[in-house]
Amino acid sequence: MVRSAAKHSFTKSTVILSLVSLLGVALTLDFLWASSSSSSSPYLSTASNWAREKYSTFEVPNNAEIEKISDDKVQTNRIPERVLSATFADLPAPALEWEQMQSAPVPRLDGSAIQINNLLYVFSGYGTLDYVHSHVDIYNFTDNTWIERFETPKEMANSHLGMACDGRYVYVVSGQPGPQCGAPTARTFVLDTETRKWESFPPLPAPRYAPATQLWRGRLHVMGGSKENRHTPGVDHWSIAVKNGKALEKEWRTEVPIPRGGPHRACVAVDDRLFVIGGQEGDFMAKPGSPIFKCSRRLEVVYGDVYMLDGEMKWKILTPLPKPNSHIESSWIILNNSIIIMGGTTEKHPVNKRMILVGEVFQFHLDTLKWSVIGKLPYRVKTTLAGFWNGWLYFTSGQRDRGPDNPQPRKVVGEMWRTKLSL
Ligand SMILES: *[C@@H]1O[C@H](CO)[C@@H](O)[C@H](O)[C@H]1NC(C)=O
Ligand SMILES: *[C@@H]1O[C@H](CO)[C@@H](O)[C@H](O)[C@H]1NC(C)=O
Repeated sequence: MVRSAAKHSFTKSTVILSLVSLLGVALTLDFLWASSSSSSSPYLSTASNWAREKYSTFEVPNNAEIEKISDDKVQTNRIPERVLSATFADLPAPALEWEQMQSAPVPRLDGSAIQINNLLYVFSGYGTLDYVHSHVDIYNFTDNTWIERFETPKEMANSHLGMACDGRYVYVVSGQPGPQCGAPTARTFVLDTETRKWESFPPLPAPRYAPATQLWRGRLHVMGGSKENRHTPGVDHWSIAVKNGKALEKEWRTEVPIPRGGPHRACVAVDDRLFVIGGQEGDFMAKPGSPIFKCSRRLEVVYGDVYMLDGEMKWKILTPLPKPNSHIESSWIILNNSIIIMGGTTEKHPVNKRMILVGEVFQFHLDTLKWSVIGKLPYRVKTTLAGFWNGWLYFTSGQRDRGPDNPQPRKVVGEMWRTKLSL
């Protein structure tokens, strides 16, 4: 009896001690994101230009120590190795020299972009959660200025657009009209960039938020995205034959569903292959009954999956991104037989559940189908709008982090940056 009581209280105090220690670990985690620790752990960031001196001597308790202070009871709660894993830590990456250019006329989150030759067309997006844009701004890469602005159709969505371009016509598919977490529309439009005229286009069979969208083999393909409630991942895949901004068929055709659904993925057609990269399952939803569709956070899972369709019309699963990554639908360019992806969001912090932004530049090699990390952005940022012109890699807009030591999202920006890129 006595022994068992003693054992009991020993166990209890061990549990408390363990919890206190774990709390200590959790509280110090915030300092770890960008700290250039002297630890030899390959998972720690070596992002020295983001690190602040004062954290550089911080010691990370190794797993053996965490093991020691755990017992069976807290074992399940103990912080797994994944805490320091590449899931959300900054990855080691070479520094790039960034030059700040003229900012966009407005800050933009969840906007979209299309590059046609030396012009970058950036579309709509949120200014704040309570205000959305309904216009296009154009940046001229030749003289590096914002040169023009024109309106989008009233009925067109303002964010979470599916978007693809054939070099002249821009197809704008479904998405979310209005601010906060409003209901989606299936309405679809085509912009003729030469005349700046908008035309209506057959609506998607069902509305989707941020579906993967691309022109491929003469057809406009739309897949994944979130369903009507903004949260449930859709796996449906539709296509319709198009030419010169017109649908050649009356109805969308049902295609082979994508293995994993969800919004905010990069969708890229190169040669005869269609790639769908990253994304997430789940998203913010409107609070039930809220007249303004106020956003409320729901469980979301970010992933790094890469899927490919080729002539066989069967989805193939390729090497995933170096870390889970979402909100990258306009964050890519094709360069020298590779796909470059800039920024994004990764899995939430496993302890404090906060959202974590991505600051790396990734390269997907189309010959080997392998990934590498080729550099870092001036800060972590999601929903970047990317472009490439004359040797320079550009990005503008998105929501950036809270600073070098804090990868959580904060300010919506309109900044434009570029770096000289040679691969
Ligand atoms: C872009 O800038 C170049 C260089 O100033 C200029 O020649 C060209 O006309 C501009 N393009 C547009 C569409 O304004
Ligand atoms: C692309 O590859 C070509 C040939 O290898 C090279 O000359 C060029 O510099 C590369 N471009 C970039 C931007 O890296």
